Amino acid sequence: MNLNTKTQIKNNHNKAENFFLDIKSGLQNTPKKLSSKYFYDEIGDELFQKIMAMPEYYLTQCELDIFKNKTAEIADLITSDSSPFDLIELGAGDAMKSSYFLKYLVDKGTDFTYMPIDISGNILSILQEKLEKNIPELHTVCLEGEYFEMLNKAAALSSRRKVILFLGGNIGNMELEEAYHFCSGLKQNLAAGDQLLIGFDLKKNPHTILNAYNDKTGITAAFNLNLLTRINRELDADFDLKEFQHYQTYDPVSGACRSYLVSLVDQVVTIDQTSISFKENELIDMEVSQKFSEEDIKELAEKSGFEIKGEIRDSKNWFIDSVWTVTK
Ligand SMILES: C[S@@+](CC[C@H](N)C(=O)[O-])C[C@H]1O[C@@H](n2cnc3c(N)ncnc32)[C@H](O)[C@@H]1O
Repeated sequence: MNLNTKTQIKNNHNKAENFFLDIKSGLQNTPKKLSSKYFYDEIGDELFQKIMAMPEYYLTQCELDIFKNKTAEIADLITSDSSPFDLIELGAGDAMKSSYFLKYLVDKGTDFTYMPIDISGNILSILQEKLEKNIPELHTVCLEGEYFEMLNKAAALSSRRKVILFLGGNIGNMELEEAYHFCSGLKQNLAAGDQLLIGFDLKKNPHTILNAYNDKTGITAAFNLNLLTRINRELDADFDLKEFQHYQTYDPVSGACRSYLVSLVDQVVTIDQTSISFKENELIDMEVSQKFSEEDIKELAEKSGFEIKGEIRDSKNWFIDSVWTVTK
């Protein structure tokens, strides 16, 4: 395959069926739970872009500070081995931050192919268009699907060394145990010398954290409620959005910031042929946004078999992009 093209590869195998089965089993669980990976339909993508632009959502500005102002430091850490590589971004979204780094590498004449992976085909199309316009020289292969299945596709396309980007709040959207299994799985899929640049939002003043996910404008609430709209549309369900309310918590001890939807009344919702009962005040667990200490980061790297090669912090010291190497 010629990788010197703008390519989009999709894996839509069983997509609708998996969505249905995950939603049904999550809502039959106690407590009820929905996976935040399903937030990202066309409207969800747009709402997430609005979240990133909110002044309260400090994560964007922190990581932008790193990617805009410390680009050379990032490049030094991942291009110390000067061989060509594949830069694979997991959950790339609109690559708002990483595109500064892509431009820097292209301007330096670095030999690499950018492979963004995202479950949302919509955001990948937006990204591809943006990259074609702003960095036309960039070699891009967009991979639409789940992290690991598309990482395998990337490995099948090219045997060059791999640098994985996993930015923003993505690792934080996993429970700690899940994050450990995820990083261990990544290591199994990589070879000695491959690298991972992974973003961690640090524990900080609890008010700052809670405000970032509990905005007064209601954008985060709309982002959560939009998953019910998506389920109504795609799975023939009848959620009444007026009967659900967004609720956000932050526990500064564990570092878990959690989004819930609260059922405001006793109600029964039908999804396809299945009835799901809600008690008044019953919760749906929607998303965790885990915050980390420096010790948590070290422990996660060591436990999952990586060596920390370096780290870059924003000027407020609120966020770390940590660079890990596979030693084998
Ligand atoms: C919170 S956004 C962050 C986007 C980007 N990393 C950033 O920092 O701006 C998460 C992105 O990951 C994608 N995503 C979430 N779960 C995924 C999964 N299991 N496989 C592939 N993509 C996923 C979503 O579609 C979304 O674009």
